[in-house]
Amino acid sequence: MSLDGKTAVVTGAARGIGYAYCQRLAADGANVVAVDIDDPGDAVKKLTGGGDKLGLACDIGDPSQVEAVTAAVLDRYGRCDILVNNAAIFPLTDIDHVTIELWREVQAVNVEPILLFARAFVPGMRAAGWGRIVNTGSGITLLQNRDLAYLTSKGTVHALTRALANEFGEDGITVNAIAPGLVPTEGFLTRVRTGGPAADEVFARVTALQTIRRRSVPADLADALAFLVSDEAGFITGQILHVDGGLTRTGA
Ligand SMILES: NC(=O)c1ccc[n+]([C@@H]2O[C@H](COP(=O)([O-])OP(=O)(O)OC[C@H]3O[C@@H](n4cnc5c(N)ncnc54)[C@H](O)[C@@H]3O)[C@@H](O)[C@H]2O)c1
Repeated sequence: MSLDGKTAVVTGAARGIGYAYCQRLAADGANVVAVDIDDPGDAVKKLTGGGDKLGLACDIGDPSQVEAVTAAVLDRYGRCDILVNNAAIFPLTDIDHVTIELWREVQAVNVEPILLFARAFVPGMRAAGWGRIVNTGSGITLLQNRDLAYLTSKGTVHALTRALANEFGEDGITVNAIAPGLVPTEGFLTRVRTGGPAADEVFARVTALQTIRRRSVPADLADALAFLVSDEAGFITGQILHVDGGLTRTGA
């Protein structure tokens, strides 16, 4: 599945799942723009593959920074063909820890940029008659979890995925979400170090609920992304694809 000539923008690209997305898109030939609040320059240097690579530092929770990034992308490449909204924060937000400021920050980073990036890039996709938007959701929406702000943000990501799919079906633009289960990324490990039980304990509990009982790796998600952005997935839109070893299957 060659993505030669296509331009992809990935948020939260400096590490973890977002970096795996960049690696896969670059390997498949796309121009890759890696966006992250932490300067993604070093990550971009490690990418291998056919297309152009660009790292842009941006706090996607700040609309003016998103505007600057989208303008830079359009200036350099003319359009974005593949938009991957992946960056998110997941602070402890159970009822004892959540504040209204934290609640708003989580929605500002996890949800609102999807709208801003889509609004900036959809006109070019429409003109080309082809586009792919893939959001990173979460299986957490179907599981027992007390992170009020994070869970709500991911539920909203799933709803927004379907709402955007409603908008662009006749334009050749598909909009889907990939919902991971539990993946041992830096973000997750930091979170268990600062709040929850130790990582091994969490993984033992989660993998026991999966039907494929190994730990997920970022490449599992990147493989799903490669399919969703391909021409072969052109009739799939408005879907939440759970890539989680069966963690969230009915009857788990
Ligand atoms: N790891 C998991 O178990 C898991 C499970 C379900 C869903 N997810 C989702 O997968 C996605 C990636 O998570 P991850 O595990 O790779 O996390 P991570 O924390 O390792 O990576 C997230 C990246 O997003 C960046 N980022 C954070 N805030 C930002 C901001 N304001 N502006 C720009 N960039 C910002 C971080 O710097 C980091 O590079 C997230 O949407 C997360 O909610 C992860």
